[in-house]
Amino acid sequence: MTRTPVNVTVTGAAGQIGYALLFRIASGHLLGADVPVKLRLLEIPQAVKAAEGTAMELDDCAFPLLQGIDIADDPNVAFDGANIALLVGARPRTKGMERGDLLEANGGIFKPQGKAINDHAADDIKVLVVGNPANTNARIAQAAAPDVPIERFTAMTRLDHNRAVTQLAKKTGVSVSDVKKLTIWGNHSATQYPDIFHAEVAGKNAAEAVNDEAWLADTFIPTVAKRGAAIIEARGASSAASAANAAIDHVHTWVNGTAAGDWTSMGIPSDGSYGVPEGIISSFPVTTKDGKYEIVQGLEINDFSRQRIDASVAELVEEREAVKGLGLI
Ligand code: NAD
Ligand code: LMR
Repeated sequence: MTRTPVNVTVTGAAGQIGYALLFRIASGHLLGADVPVKLRLLEIPQAVKAAEGTAMELDDCAFPLLQGIDIADDPNVAFDGANIALLVGARPRTKGMERGDLLEANGGIFKPQGKAINDHAADDIKVLVVGNPANTNARIAQAAAPDVPIERFTAMTRLDHNRAVTQLAKKTGVSVSDVKKLTIWGNHSATQYPDIFHAEVAGKNAAEAVNDEAWLADTFIPTVAKRGAAIIEARGASSAASAANAAIDHVHTWVNGTAAGDWTSMGIPSDGSYGVPEGIISSFPVTTKDGKYEIVQGLEINDFSRQRIDASVAELVEEREAVKGLGLI
């Protein structure tokens, strides 16, 4: 192996998403089958032993691409030289909790991690925040990293995107690979807006193919937006393997590009496009190429969509004000 390994830091490595994620990173699904990786695992001191156990299992897989595993309980060590950072470690929502309840509990984690990224990560660092409330946690980390270009901080809405793709494919009787150009707008929360008005199913406009606004408003949108809660209710624990899969998809697409004629959804710092206040980390339709993303411009937003985008963005503005009040940004 002659290529320089990519340093991938994963926080919350001993948690349930970490367990589903690390083996796929090490086997080449994050960056590609020819890209060697070094893993840096960050955990709180009480969970370092469990992370060591996971590292033993990673060793036992003899993954050819895995060039080393370091475990740390200090963010300054774990982010040193990081090229990719997956910020997963946070307290998950349990039954009956809304994401807002997590702001205070988890906000404190992301400020020091943002600072450690600012001070120690590699110049090409790309950050994905998975830990909830993901969009606002990403904003907190970004605010603590003034030397890192703002666009390197992203939040995960790919799980919502993937959920929406499957629901739409099922409704229209096509395969998931025939669904294109779907968009998740706004927050990774129950206010998110999965938009099918520009989506295509097997080459046809999805909204026209569905032709059922009641299904859209009363079934599709709530099913996608409340899927996290439905999984917690059913499993007694929040989504893990599907969340890890979405994290892999998010970074893989960011690094390797979107397919021609398609786009994806990413939570990214707004540049003011589509009336979303600048700086807020909100989900947009994006295309990616050469490790960079661009917001898909020029989409016509109808009244149905406008109302829903505005409601989710309003929630993000509220979250921003709440974390400002807590001194986190
Ligand atoms: P988990 O409780 O199984 O694991 C979390 C891990 O993070 C634990 O091992 C804990 O010790 C660790 N941790 C806590 N504080 C830390 C810190 N300061 N530094 C490093 N590690 C720390 O939780 P999980 O099920 O793996 O979920 C992780 C997060 O991902 C939760 O916030 C959950 O709500 C979120 N999530 C997001 C999405 C999404 O689509 N954005 C989807 C699913 C879950
Ligand atoms: C999900 O969408 O599955 C996660 O964000 C977990 C949650 O709290 O909903």
